[in-house]
Amino acid sequence: MIKVLFVCLGNICRSPTAEGVFRHLVQKEKLEKFLEIDSAGTHAYHVDAPPDERAQAACARRGIDIAHLRGRRATADDIREFDYVLAMDRENYENLRAISPAEHQSKIRLFMEFAPNRREREVPDPYFGGISGFDRVLDMIEDAAQGLLEDIRRTRLSQAKK
Ligand code: 4NP
Repeated sequence: MIKVLFVCLGNICRSPTAEGVFRHLVQKEKLEKFLEIDSAGTHAYHVDAPPDERAQAACARRGIDIAHLRGRRATADDIREFDYVLAMDRENYENLRAISPAEHQSKIRLFMEFAPNRREREVPDPYFGGISGFDRVLDMIEDAAQGLLEDIRRTRLSQAKK
């Protein structure tokens, strides 16, 4: 299995959205048996909480259900176990590096690196803004999810299918 973890601050807005979008794409491409997908937060504020209702609604408008997801905090073991540990912004990236075993640090990347057609390198935190922020986050995440799957196909899936 190729293991992908999406990480933000609270694990109730951006990273569960990315988990839902990426799983939806992987299912559409019939690749779910090759990929394990999860999300976590660098802080514990929303452990066991469902995604923010605005994130749920924005996903639902695009046919993606994330209501069943629950918040959890990212751990050093996550960074050991996952192949891709994808931070939504630079603060999440630095927080992950701070807890990462030295030999696993290279797995931690900014998720928006996988959307080279966009200039933004960070998915902005939508928590304190309005509804439109959640749609903007979804547009960015959809682009990066597409690029991530292309990267995985190119670099890993040819081996995983053997
Ligand atoms: P997320 O958004 O990191 O995308 O889940 C946030 C959720 C909660 C808070 C901040 C950001 N908070 O401060 O509680």
